[in-house]
Amino acid sequence: MLANGAISSDEYKRFQEFLEQVAGIVLGRNKQYLVDSRLGYIMAEEGIATLGELLSRIQGLGDPKLRERVIDAMTTNETLWFRDSKPYRLLEQLILPKFAGRPLRIWSAACSSGQEPYSISFTVEEFRERNPAAAPSRVEIVATDLSGSMLASAKAAEYDAMSIARGLTTQQKQKFFDQRGQHWVVKPQYRRGVSFRKLNLQDSFSALGRFDVVFCRNVLIYFSAELKRDILNRMADVLHPEGYLILGSSESVNGYSERYHTERHPQGVLFRPSGDAGE
Ligand SMILES: C[S@@+](CC[C@H](N)C(=O)[O-])C[C@H]1O[C@@H](n2cnc3c(N)ncnc32)[C@H](O)[C@@H]1O
Repeated sequence: MLANGAISSDEYKRFQEFLEQVAGIVLGRNKQYLVDSRLGYIMAEEGIATLGELLSRIQGLGDPKLRERVIDAMTTNETLWFRDSKPYRLLEQLILPKFAGRPLRIWSAACSSGQEPYSISFTVEEFRERNPAAAPSRVEIVATDLSGSMLASAKAAEYDAMSIARGLTTQQKQKFFDQRGQHWVVKPQYRRGVSFRKLNLQDSFSALGRFDVVFCRNVLIYFSAELKRDILNRMADVLHPEGYLILGSSESVNGYSERYHTERHPQGVLFRPSGDAGE
């Protein structure tokens, strides 16, 4: 609960503008309850009485640590191991066999606490075990997120009983993790190829290099149509011509970008660069 129990419509509007500007996140109308539940404890800790006062502390040259805490609190970090399973089947059955003996670069573009990039790594390494001759020569997985706290958890690769229970069989848990007390840590061989860096998807991707596969799942849903279009077009620029874009199960390029064509497979949907940047 916010200290004074209410958010004025002007404060809410200014907060919506702030969040869209710094994170691209569009906070819909009547989501005051979300602001209340996600920021109330931070404001109580900081002795801040109103959303307007919080805004004046975090805007412009204001307190960067507090700003980061607010952005972290306002991002939705929901994730799980092998989420939706289809992307991992697409990777294993359709994509990996195309990279036999060749290097492969994969980008997990909003990696949250690491379940997505590590699930990619588990899939690659299991493929390698089963088909050593058909495996890529080297796999690099670059995982990025806006949230500093999510990236810190992802890098630590250490999960509690609750998060480990979401999406893994007992056998997978034992194969991919070492148990340390109440926690489970991703084994070194599955962490080796995975690196993490902070990236706001609103910013340039050029420092990341080019990719064969981009996983951009369950993040575009928070953005405006204009930002979705911009991100999808810029992702087409960093994808190799024969590359693959994998979106969340409810997401599509259709209506946002002409830079891809859609491939429907029994295992799921892949978006491939169409090679036409001229729009
Ligand atoms: C719901 S999680 C999705 C995690 C994972 N891709 C999955 O599908 O399970 C959304 C992630 O997007 C990140 N995010 C939100 N806005 C972002 C932005 N502007 N740039 C980069 N990441 C952002 C959040 O921090 C959060 O970790």
